Amino acid sequence: MIGHTNETLQVTGLQVSVLTAAGQQRLVHGIDLGIRPGQVLGLVGESGSGKTMTCLSILQLHDGKTTCIEGSIRLNGRELNGLRAGDMRRVRGKEIGFIMQNPMNAFSPVFTIGNQFVETIRSHTQLSKKQALDLAASALHDVNLPDASSLLRRYPFELSGGMLQRAMIALAMCMQPSLLIADEPTTALDTANQLQVLRLLDRIRREHGTSILLISHDLGVIAELADEVAVMQRGELVEKADVYSLFDHPRHPYTKQLMESRPVMPGAERSEELILS
Ligand SMILES: Nc1ncnc2c1ncn2[C@@H]1O[C@H](COP(=O)(O)OP(=O)(O)OP(=O)(O)O)[C@@H](O)[C@H]1O
Ligand SMILES: [Mg+2]
Repeated sequence: MIGHTNETLQVTGLQVSVLTAAGQQRLVHGIDLGIRPGQVLGLVGESGSGKTMTCLSILQLHDGKTTCIEGSIRLNGRELNGLRAGDMRRVRGKEIGFIMQNPMNAFSPVFTIGNQFVETIRSHTQLSKKQALDLAASALHDVNLPDASSLLRRYPFELSGGMLQRAMIALAMCMQPSLLIADEPTTALDTANQLQVLRLLDRIRREHGTSILLISHDLGVIAELADEVAVMQRGELVEKADVYSLFDHPRHPYTKQLMESRPVMPGAERSEELILS
């Protein structure tokens, strides 16, 4: 597939294999993905289908000794696959934000939230400590975490899971990345916090034109936010379509099966609440 040049992310022929005791094992079999600015691509598929592996490959976060990544991963036209570790570190955090399932893993337990915001912001910008703290406070305010100055003095364990998840999104927002990768961002949260996180992601893409790769096993979450959906099964992309066609007319047998097994029927309309917020 030839990608569109106006895509933020263009993944072409991505293959991932790992060296295991049983020999070389291919986990991702030549997939193509593209996301335009401000668009949300939902990635769904059963557990073990290779969704996280795909994210980690885009971020080039893998063990170079045992994992082999082939194909092209272009971010705003620049090839990331094979980029030097130092260059890739600059891309991560600044140009690609990563929101992971367990927010506890995103923060170190031994430093305050403020410390970690300042550290991350200053390693990617020229801002002073005071400016970084101001930026952090305004981002925390944006994700509905009031009283930022006291929150910045706290340690991760003093925050609830939902608060930490929003703090992680705030940190990603501070960097204004062109691509945000969110791997199961709402799975660990209760319904109220889930909706809040979805609203935030929607705002980020609308206000900053950020492209979002949204991974979720929850089709309700995908129906709320995604413009296009890619379906993975056993390391392959079996179907890709805009969200309405996929929900209304799934073509691949696996997609049909996914649709039939979902617990609730979100239908084609999105919740008024999210759209109007
Ligand atoms: N380091 C590794 N070495 C060998 N196999 C691995 C490694 N990491 C993951 N796998 C395998 O790769 C496959 C894809 O895993 P991946 O974590 O990408 O799935 P996933 O779609 O994210 O699943 P989930 O929905 O459970 O998060 C799985 O079969 C997994 O067992
Ligand atoms: Mg996963």
